[in-house]
Amino acid sequence: MLKIHNLEVCYDKHITVQNVNLSVQAGEIVGIVGESGSGKSTLVRSVVDILPKGGCVTNGCIHFCGKELTTLKDKQMNAVRGKDIAMIFQHPQLTMEPLMTIDQAFYECIHVHRKCERREAREIGKSLMTDLGLEKPDRILNSYPFELSGGMAQRVAVALALVNGPKLVLADEPTSALDVTVQRKMIDLLLRVRDKTGCALLLVSHNFGVIAKMADRVGVMYRGKLVEWGLKEEVLYRPQHGYTDRLIRAIPKIQW
Ligand SMILES: Nc1ncnc2c1ncn2[C@@H]1O[C@H](COP(=O)(O)OP(=O)(O)O)[C@@H](O)[C@H]1O
Ligand SMILES: [Mg+2]
Repeated sequence: MLKIHNLEVCYDKHITVQNVNLSVQAGEIVGIVGESGSGKSTLVRSVVDILPKGGCVTNGCIHFCGKELTTLKDKQMNAVRGKDIAMIFQHPQLTMEPLMTIDQAFYECIHVHRKCERREAREIGKSLMTDLGLEKPDRILNSYPFELSGGMAQRVAVALALVNGPKLVLADEPTSALDVTVQRKMIDLLLRVRDKTGCALLLVSHNFGVIAKMADRVGVMYRGKLVEWGLKEEVLYRPQHGYTDRLIRAIPKIQW
């Protein structure tokens, strides 16, 4: 479904991501793990062309369902972004429009890609949120992002991401801003979403525990390079790269 080949991304001529090769198959969960600043967000943002100012793909290919994404014009990319490929970010409240109620957000997400009535958008949002286990969906639909708790906002963000039936969801640190108990619920929710909708997930986290719980295949990023890539079991139990080994050993263990 997604095949990244020899990807290089620069910020103002400074190479940040280099020679990255990875693939995501339909329905698969691929986890990207690595320390802060290793280039994980840069990698996923380059897929849908939402790099911060100064960022640019300088080499390589990103194939997605028969399209070469790096050569798409803005209009063509707009048709893919939010439809076939959706994104969930670390801080849902910061990425939602603060002046829009949640039902307006659902409307906007759908309306960008097809004609739709406000009422229909509201119904779709309500049904998705109910599926995701959000109680009192009507109240949520009438709320502004700041009125939601972190965990609730992240679940709403998942519902918004699913609204156009994406084939691939890019999730950049979707659990990192949440309390541990809410994190667990979010992990279960994303797994349920994959099982129910069959969408693939490219999941970024600095937390090996989250990746170990969710991913089928794992890539380890270190200083902008993918230093390890393979099935989760292989990477976790037989890491080939010293950095992966150190990263696994760095997972804190509770001691009494
Ligand atoms: N807008 C930017 N301009 C210049 N450099 C950036 C920008 N965003 C990120 N970087 C640099 O790119 C590197 C990778 O960042 P990032 O992809 O955010 O890493 P991660 O998501 O793994 O924490 C870091 O060294 C960071 O300083
Ligand atoms: Mg990041």
